[in-house]
Formats: sequence, structure tokens, C-alpha cells
Amino acid sequence: MSNETRASFGGKLSAILVAAGSAIGLGSIWRFPYMAGENGGSAFLLVYLLCVFVVGIPVMLAEFAVGRKTKMNAVGGYRSLSRPWRWLGYNGVIGALFISGYYYIVAGWSLEYLVSSIGGPLYSSGESFTEQFSMFQASWRELFYTFVFILLTHLIIVRGVEKGIEKAAKVMMPALFIILIIMAVRVAFMPGAAEGYRFFLEPNFKEAFTAKTIFTAIGQAFFSLSVGMGCMVTYASYFKKDNNLTGTSFSVALLTLLVAVLAGLVIFPAVFSAGLQPSEGASLIFITLPEIFKDMPFAQLWSAVFFILLTLASLTSTISFHEVLTAYFAEEYKLSRKAATRVTSGLSLALCTLTLCWTFDIDLLGLKDISFFEIFDYTTANILMPLGGLLTCIFVAWSMKPDFLRGEITNYGEMRGRLFPLLHFTLKYITPLLIVYIFVKNLGII
Ligand code: PFF
Repeated sequence: MSNETRASFGGKLSAILVAAGSAIGLGSIWRFPYMAGENGGSAFLLVYLLCVFVVGIPVMLAEFAVGRKTKMNAVGGYRSLSRPWRWLGYNGVIGALFISGYYYIVAGWSLEYLVSSIGGPLYSSGESFTEQFSMFQASWRELFYTFVFILLTHLIIVRGVEKGIEKAAKVMMPALFIILIIMAVRVAFMPGAAEGYRFFLEPNFKEAFTAKTIFTAIGQAFFSLSVGMGCMVTYASYFKKDNNLTGTSFSVALLTLLVAVLAGLVIFPAVFSAGLQPSEGASLIFITLPEIFKDMPFAQLWSAVFFILLTLASLTSTISFHEVLTAYFAEEYKLSRKAATRVTSGLSLALCTLTLCWTFDIDLLGLKDISFFEIFDYTTANILMPLGGLLTCIFVAWSMKPDFLRGEITNYGEMRGRLFPLLHFTLKYITPLLIVYIFVKNLGII
């Protein structure tokens, strides 16, 4: 790809939709509700909101600046600005590999549930949903659907940046909003929904500001906004010169927040209405939602609609971390786009197979029965991405001259960039200090 003229996304709206497509995915619809469910509901929502503004948006903007300035993949981008900082790019590439190792699996669950809702046994087998979920996890179908998801992503990526990624996001993102709003309205009429709203929306400051809640919320902010691992660097390398980076980062963050809040407004009233537990964990939507759908008229239809939504949202995200790796292999190893896509898809399949086949039994740091699934999820959201975010702040706000960020934010004098002083200050002091403080506090050092 390096010797072709570099592709770019069409207009302003395309850039927002594509970046929002990366951000909005399983992180907002699957991960956010169960993290909130396990961390006090509204308390978590409050801290997450703060983290999006104080950590997520500034880091996203810094990544946009690096990507659009250099027009390269994550490693090449940082290296071209300062050679030692290429390691920050490698942090992103490793993060993308780790995410690939489990994200496709959860995306495969949503595809399986979509198929099973329409013509399969989900509502007709008579087994409980918990049993069905465990049976599915123990069968060949899990690997099969993971494979299908990697293939779908592969087919979009191989078509290229404009025809593949941009077109897919333009259709899928609006569809997702419409479906989510319809679901939120439907759920509001279920008996007992009010308790769910209370759990999710009633301010709860007591539980909010604990080290664990803040640590989890920062991880969730990084994960749900796709920042701290070179994804936004890669995507911004396809932005046009006149793109308003500040406006794009705020729009992406607000759309992501909106989807997370909408997902909460669908899931918590539904969970309480069915008398279930919000702290169900990773299986929350796969076990509790079918439980809810089954008592609704047109159960299969509602269920299919929801899992179509989840599948679409996952696809626009898998495309984005696949692209981090594809652009890296294509540009750094001078491969054709086709070959780079194949390498990435092959690696993703190998990692997912490893995750699915191997749950090992070690007592490392007191973590028993740990699986690759948990290792990949925990290390990306709670270590690699915050670390990437912290280093991005240090690089952009301390190591580079302020003119670099100012130039990108104002499009080199074309725009006023009134927010620049605030953003620069936040990136220089507030975001890095907050990340370091929470890391250290959570490790129990202070
Ligand atoms: N933001 C995506 C989600 O919330 O599902 C996950 C993700 C995509 C993380 C791309 C990182 C990334 F580079």
C-alpha cells in the first residue's frame, strides 16, 4: 500500500461515522452494561462519563493529530515523528492482536444468537438459557461462528478503505441507532422497568469514587473509545486535511456515550423487570435478554433485531482493529493490501483458536483458572490501553512542541482552536496524573 496513493475517507460525516463505528461496539452494548452492573450501576455511569471527558477525548485528539500528520500506520506514524516512540506504535499493534484473540469470539456469540433466534433452537429447545449458553460454548459452533466473523471482517477490509470500511459504517451506524431506540421504547413499557432506571440513573456518589470503580471506568473509557492502541492513529491517517479534529473527537465520544446509555436503558429495566441480577457478568446480555424476549409477543423477532444490532456494531469495530494490523503489515513489510489482510486474518484465527481451546490452570498472582479470554480482555482494557494513553499524553504534550498539536487542531491556522489551551493542559497534566494515580492506587502501592 505504501507505493499506492494513500486512500482517504470522503467527507466530515464519513470520518465521524467510521471512527464512531470503531468506538461503538461490544464495548458499549455488551461490556458497559455488565461493568456497570458489577460496579453499582449509576455510580459507574457517573465515573465513566468523567473518564470519557478527562481521559478519552484528549487522548483521542492526540492520536488523531499523530495519524493525520504522518499518514501512516501506528508504528510508522510514531517512528516518523521520533524514532524511540515507535514502541508506542508497537504497544498498539500488540493491543490489536490481543483484542483479536477474544473480541471475535464474543462477536461470534452474537452471530450465533442471531441465527439461533430466527431459525434455531434458542426459543424452542426447552433448555434454560444458561444451559444453552454453556452448551454453545462447549461446542464446535463457537469456533465456527468466530471463523465466520473473521471472514466477514476480512471481506470488508480486503475491499479497501473507501469501498469497504467507509461504506459499511455509513449503512450500519444509522441502522444501529434506530434499532436501539426502538428497543429502549419497547422496554419502557415492561412491568417493573422503573427499578432498572433507578439502578442505572439515580446518582450514587458513595460507591462512585472508589479506586476500583475509577480503574474499571478508565479501562472502559479506553476500550469503548478505541483509544490508547493506535486505532485512531490509523483511522486518522485516512482523514482529510480540512477535517476538524476537535469536532470529530467530541462527536465520536458523544455518540459512544449515547449508545452506552441507550444500552443501559434497554438492559437494566429489562433485567429488573424479569427479576434477574444486574451483576450477571459477561453473560449478562446472552442469558438475561433471551429470558426477557421469551415473554414478549414476537419473541424471535425482537431477539433477532437485537442480535442484528450487536452483530453490526461488532463488525464496525472488528474492522477497525483489523485495519490497525493490516496497515501495519502492509506498510512496514511492504505487502500488498490483500496479503496483509490475509496475514492479519490468519493470526486472528490462530489466536481465537488458542483462546477457545486452552483454559489453563495456574495460580499466577493469585489468579486461578485463568483463561486466555480473561488475560486478553484484562490486559488490553486495563493495562495496554491505559499505558498507551499515558505514553500518548507524554509524547504529544511533553516530547513534541505545542505547535504540533496546535497546528493539527487549528488545521494550521484555518480554524480558531479555542479549546486548544484547555486540551493541551489536560493532556499535559490532568490525564497522565489521573492514569498514574489510579494505576498506583489500584496496585495497592498507596
Ligand atoms: N471500541 C470497541 C468497542 O467498544 O467494542 C472495541 C475496540 C475497537 C477497541 C478497536 C480497540 C480498538 F482498537
